[in-house]
Amino acid sequence: AVTRTFSIIKPDATRRNLTGGVTKMLEEAGLRVVASKRIQMTKEQAEGFYAVHKERPFFNDLVSFMISGPVVVQVLEGEDAVKCNRDVMGATNPADAAEGTIRKTYAESIEANSVHGSDSDENAAIEIAYFFKPEEIVG
Ligand code: CMP
Repeated sequence: AVTRTFSIIKPDATRRNLTGGVTKMLEEAGLRVVASKRIQMTKEQAEGFYAVHKERPFFNDLVSFMISGPVVVQVLEGEDAVKCNRDVMGATNPADAAEGTIRKTYAESIEANSVHGSDSDENAAIEIAYFFKPEEIVG
C-alpha cells in the first residue's frame, strides 16, 4: 500500500550542504517528498520529539545536536514508505550501515547520522502531526 513516513535531514547533513544529496537518494529509492520545510528546532521541540528516549544516556547530547543547526523535516510518500525509507537510510550506526545507504554514504557518527526516519506507521502519523498541519502536505 502507498503510505507516508516522516524524515529529518539532520544538522550534520544541512551543514555540509547535503539536503539535495540526501533527498536525491530518498527519491531514487521510490519515495516522493509531499511536504518539506527547513527549520531551526527549539530545545523544547527536540525534547518533545525525542521524549521516548529521555531516559537514555545519549538524550542530552542528542537534543543539543539536533538544535545545533537547521534541519529539514519532510513527509515522504511511497509504497510501504516506512520500510522503504528505513532500507535506504541504513543502520543507525553508520559503521553498521550497508553500502549504498544514506548513512553509509553520508553519516559521520551514530549521533551525527544525517537522517531520521519513523520506525512504524503509528509513529509516522504522530511525528508528521508534530511538525506539519494537514494543509502543508500536498500529495
Ligand atoms: P534517530 O533515528 O533520530 O533516533 C534517535 C537518535 O539517537 C538516533 O537516530 C541517533 O542519531 C541518536 N543516538 C545517539 N547515540 C545513540 C545510541 N548509542 N544508540 C542509538 N541512538 C543513538
